[in-house]
Amino acid sequence: MKILNASGCLDALTAPAVARSLDAFVTKSVTPLPREGNAPPRIAEVEHGMLNSIGLANPGIDRFLAHTLPRLRELEVPIWVSVGGFAVAEYADLCDRLDDRPEVEAIELNVSCPNVDDVPASVGEIVAASRAATRKPLYTKLSPATADIAEVARAAQKAGTDGLSLVNTILGLALDEQTLKPRLSRGAGGLSGAALKPIALAAVYACYEATGLPIVGMGGITSGRDALELVAAGAASVALGTILFADPGAPARIRAELASEIANLGVGEIDNAIGLAHAEPAAISKTAGRSAAMSVQ
Ligand SMILES: Cc1cc2nc3c(=O)[nH]c(=O)nc-3n(C[C@H](O)[C@H](O)[C@H](O)COP(=O)(O)O)c2cc1C
Repeated sequence: MKILNASGCLDALTAPAVARSLDAFVTKSVTPLPREGNAPPRIAEVEHGMLNSIGLANPGIDRFLAHTLPRLRELEVPIWVSVGGFAVAEYADLCDRLDDRPEVEAIELNVSCPNVDDVPASVGEIVAASRAATRKPLYTKLSPATADIAEVARAAQKAGTDGLSLVNTILGLALDEQTLKPRLSRGAGGLSGAALKPIALAAVYACYEATGLPIVGMGGITSGRDALELVAAGAASVALGTILFADPGAPARIRAELASEIANLGVGEIDNAIGLAHAEPAAISKTAGRSAAMSVQ
């Protein structure tokens, strides 16, 4: 059970102590070419969360490999590189470029950014091409904005993903109080934070059941209790996003809160809580018995 940051929600080079408080650091999504992203304003606070329309602003893979990755390596935290593209071949190329970099522990395929116009090709094709290009563990990050996320997850599994990252943001709109015009220059943006938690829970729950793959659960985690709920829904690890902007101490705090939640639950190891929300969680019949099963009903 690891605690990671959610991609795009932590700059490890400006906040190295926060990065070191994580079990692995996940980079902002890197694309083949540099991108400036969308025009400001591109962040807006809303009820129970925030909207962003950053639009994959990043230095591009060449500069990332030459400058950013060597500096990230000095942090001595395992590094997951998130990659984003606009065509199957772009994902494969990005994975190929990362394959021989020993400092990269895993690759996250961001197939789900809501802030770019070009719709990427089908998830199965992206994963299959990426799988062929690298031996690194691949986590496929899905959007909750789909009719049947379990079906998409199964396609990713069939194509060879090692795990799933669930979920990315979902499109939302905020209007200016006076002008009633959109507050973000792009109009709508990705909704993250507390409002996303029930959506993330549903996605993790469905994909755990459909695939049994290891899942990094994220979406609105602000406390150990939130993290526990995602674990119970089926997440083997969790990632912290929007909370990091308000509370850079969240990784240590949530780790401690989660430990006490688990102690109260009486299931022993935290990994025994994975999938507890399901009808027949394997862990509970093995370890905890009736009382723990009842306490989560
Ligand atoms: C400002 C901002 C930038 C983000 N950038 C990325 C990104 O580059 N790649 C990606 O896969 N997800 C990105 N995300 C989505 C987060 O990784 C995460 O999936 C989402 O925010 C839900 O988690 P949260 O509610 O804890 O923030 C971004 C989110 C925010 C708020």
